[in-house]
Amino acid sequence: MSVPEIALNRVTKQYKTGTLALEGVSLSVQRGEFVTLLGPSGCGKSTLLRMISGLSTPTGGEIRVNGMTPGNARELMSFIFQDPTLMPWRTVAGNVGLSLELEGAARPLRAERVSDVLGLVGLQHFANRYPRELSGGMKMRASIARALVSRPRILLMDEPFAALDEMTRDRMNEQLLRLFEEQKWTVLFVTHSVAEAVFLSTRIVILSAHPGRIAHDVALNLGRPREPHLRESAAFEQAVIQISRLLRGVQR
Ligand SMILES: Nc1ncnc2c1ncn2[C@@H]1O[C@H](COP(=O)(O)OP(=O)(O)O)[C@@H](O)[C@H]1O
Ligand SMILES: [Mg+2]
Repeated sequence: MSVPEIALNRVTKQYKTGTLALEGVSLSVQRGEFVTLLGPSGCGKSTLLRMISGLSTPTGGEIRVNGMTPGNARELMSFIFQDPTLMPWRTVAGNVGLSLELEGAARPLRAERVSDVLGLVGLQHFANRYPRELSGGMKMRASIARALVSRPRILLMDEPFAALDEMTRDRMNEQLLRLFEEQKWTVLFVTHSVAEAVFLSTRIVILSAHPGRIAHDVALNLGRPREPHLRESAAFEQAVIQISRLLRGVQR
């Protein structure tokens, strides 16, 4: 078997406050998988993503990203948070290209990359707009474009669509899947929505809290590409019921 894209071997995280956020978490994500973490608030989902990204370090166990330490694999990954935090004084293109600008990339290369990713997320006509002129969904797309401009192959997404209304979220899910299916990323995604998790994922990992541990690891066989009407199918409904049940079990 090939080197997993993300591998956690008995990872533990105890904060200095004494909180044992995660204990003995082992997880292996293969290239091209879409894995979603579900679990009660405080079960360590954000902690897990932050450690994989290299923003924080485990107090026990080991994390490997494509066989490397998270610090050495930083260029492979992009992190997308719920809050798009676009700079209000920069245009959409200015925000999306900022990291390239900071790296000192030449202007033509920057312009090309920015225009590519704005096209990917459907914001090609909004390059010169300011964040205040965008809807919530468009801001989120700008934030995704910003994450994609460095051409990551791994996306770490921490409740990215939680602040959006349901229809916008559904549309974002469909667009994300379309990109996922064509770009062959590996995605580790966090949400509280069972329906969103089922619609997107190849696998759902359910964590229990205090300390955070893996309680269930469920593969979904819903096929791809996934179309919006999947949400109305019996197979989808079955999966939602199954996952909801497992989730209720760890929340007791
Ligand atoms: N920087 C920190 N310092 C101390 N405790 C923290 C810190 N970040 C998170 N925690 C604690 O660790 C546990 C897991 O938090 P978190 O990873 O944010 O969970 P989730 O994202 O699943 O809601 C919680 O009990 C939380 O209070
Ligand atoms: Mg969190």
